[in-house]
Amino acid sequence: TNTPKAVIVIFGATGDLANRKLYPSIYRLYRNGKLSDNFAVIGVARRPLTNEDFQNNVKKSIENFDDPHIDKDEFASHFHYNPFDIQDLGHYQALDKFINALDEKHQTEGNRLFYFSMAPNFFGTLAANLKSEGLTTAKGWTRLVIEKPFGHDYPSAKELNDQIREAFDEDQIYRIDHYLGKEMVQNIEVIRFANALFEPLWNNQHISNIQITSSEVLGVEERGRYYDSAGALKDMVQNHMLQMMALIAMDPPIKLSPEEIRSEKVKVLRALRPMTEDDVHKYFVRGQYDKGLVNGEELPAYRAGNGVDPDSNTDTFVAAKLMIDNFRWAGVPIYMRTGKRMKQKSTEIVVEFKDLPMNLYYGKEHDTRPNLLVIHVQPHEGITLHVNAKKGDYSASSTPIQLSYENSSHDKMNTPEAYEILLHDCMRGDSTNFTHWDEVALSWKFVDVIADAWGKKKADFPNYETGSNGPKAADDLLAEDGFQWWDVTPNK
Ligand code: BG6
Repeated sequence: TNTPKAVIVIFGATGDLANRKLYPSIYRLYRNGKLSDNFAVIGVARRPLTNEDFQNNVKKSIENFDDPHIDKDEFASHFHYNPFDIQDLGHYQALDKFINALDEKHQTEGNRLFYFSMAPNFFGTLAANLKSEGLTTAKGWTRLVIEKPFGHDYPSAKELNDQIREAFDEDQIYRIDHYLGKEMVQNIEVIRFANALFEPLWNNQHISNIQITSSEVLGVEERGRYYDSAGALKDMVQNHMLQMMALIAMDPPIKLSPEEIRSEKVKVLRALRPMTEDDVHKYFVRGQYDKGLVNGEELPAYRAGNGVDPDSNTDTFVAAKLMIDNFRWAGVPIYMRTGKRMKQKSTEIVVEFKDLPMNLYYGKEHDTRPNLLVIHVQPHEGITLHVNAKKGDYSASSTPIQLSYENSSHDKMNTPEAYEILLHDCMRGDSTNFTHWDEVALSWKFVDVIADAWGKKKADFPNYETGSNGPKAADDLLAEDGFQWWDVTPNK
């Protein structure tokens, strides 16, 4: 079989991400036959746990899966725990031996996958020691998966990258942006490049604007301390939002290889119009949530949150108007908006088409609207095409209708989850849905200018109510251009 074989070493094995995402993802791959029996997982962390404790944790993380035909004990027996001190070189040598022993036992062909799922300030030391102790040169392949945040600005990202590159080559490094593992984000390319209908219209002749929204109902929960030093711009725009934009705006690659796709995405990021300080204040709207009602319950303001400075100037909302200066997009605004504690959890991409050169249906009996192509990323997954059609009655009036496709695997238990897909991709050596350093560098450079401009001027926070659609300025941003944010979430 060509299912991947490897020893997976997870640093940060007792952490939240490992328990919430990684173990369930490995389980789903196992359950779905995407992982052969030739795998083992070594959980690495500081805490002194026994193998049994660790395997119990793993079983707990998958307790909601009800698969009578799967032997969860057998699954858990692939997991091993290795208490570890990052500074102690002896521990690396012992880990190396352990990996080799498991390699032999499970016949994993010498393949090693290191997963850094811990505070990024340890990444440099970890990478350097893995290399110096000989863990990065194995019989088979060696790969590194690395979690965000990848730096907090360009210089820190570069420093981190330089440290990691001392030990791993770029093509061994898989930087996670979990939005790239989402089914409908991956669908963007298929919708665009496998249909005769869209690509010929996908330019400034026919598209008036594009809107990318990712809103959340949750606040910062227990992550106040991290979040207060990041904010929505660095937490969401630098990575997920700009990645979605790049996929929507890129030129067709000459083939579907990771290199070709990346090179088209990079060109989009390079074509982003640079912002002056004045532009930032004009085209970027920042917000921070105040208290407000969610389902009848009053929730506190951001500044009252755990780990948050009571006078915090951190953005929990960003709306922006971006311009891509190339032949395809000149003159087409790309709007994006993302925020916490908003009205609903949804991620959607709206492509709005221009009006026809002449409108025959202008009387008051007619309701014609711009054509929209909507890609519903989450929680609904699907595509809707908004068109105009005749009303089904005696009149000749026109009315907007929707052609919809809903991703049928709405049984979420079967929809491959982002981390499952990405882990599988990495084990197969497919880096398409990971971010290359060139993309990370360009997006940080773009975002740094905005953060700097904001840093020089205190915002008037809080400026939007919990449970709302963000500050009014975000609506004005579009209104000034004669547009509006389309409310396109299916109401189910
Ligand atoms: C993460 C951010 O990258 O993405 C979080 O750090 C955010 O703050 C999350 O909540 C949103 O992801 P999703 O998949 O729930 O849209």
